[in-house]
Amino acid sequence: MRKRKLVIDYLDFASADEMEPLDQELVAAAIDAIKGSYSPYSHFRVGAALRLEDGTIVKGSNQENNAYPAGLCAERTAMFWAGANYPDKAFDSIAIVGSDENGICDNPATPCGECRQVMAEYQTKGGRPLKVILVGAKKIQKFSCVDDILPFIFDSLKSGEVF
Ligand code: THU
Repeated sequence: MRKRKLVIDYLDFASADEMEPLDQELVAAAIDAIKGSYSPYSHFRVGAALRLEDGTIVKGSNQENNAYPAGLCAERTAMFWAGANYPDKAFDSIAIVGSDENGICDNPATPCGECRQVMAEYQTKGGRPLKVILVGAKKIQKFSCVDDILPFIFDSLKSGEVF
């Protein structure tokens, strides 16, 4: 038996101004995507912006339904749309932001487990790390791949390989 430790490195920014221009643009797109949120039940609005390998930005927002489980998170709305419309383009990075009645939440938006699993699959499909940017009003966190927000990913296609 050996005791092991898992260490995750990530970048912490006080605001988008500290980020590189492409990431600033993605954060702005995620914030803009909030406009499309349909969230009459939770009143929690989420925006996501996904950059593809060619620079194209795809936006998504949470879409709720009276039959609650039928709704979909912002991240998956963006990823599934991109997967359907740009099937040959790898995903480069995704930014996510949450907003409540007071505006953009202070703490970074944290994707649900299902969205992390879907990110993991598209990362494998694309064959390159998918960077994840979690946006809050008071801080922004950037992770260099999905593995860092989903340790010990289930991925029968990848068989344990880590980026
Ligand atoms: N939501 C997202 O859009 N992304 C997440 O990762 C977590 C939750 C949405 C789902 C629902 O419409 C609302 O936030 C409240 O849970």
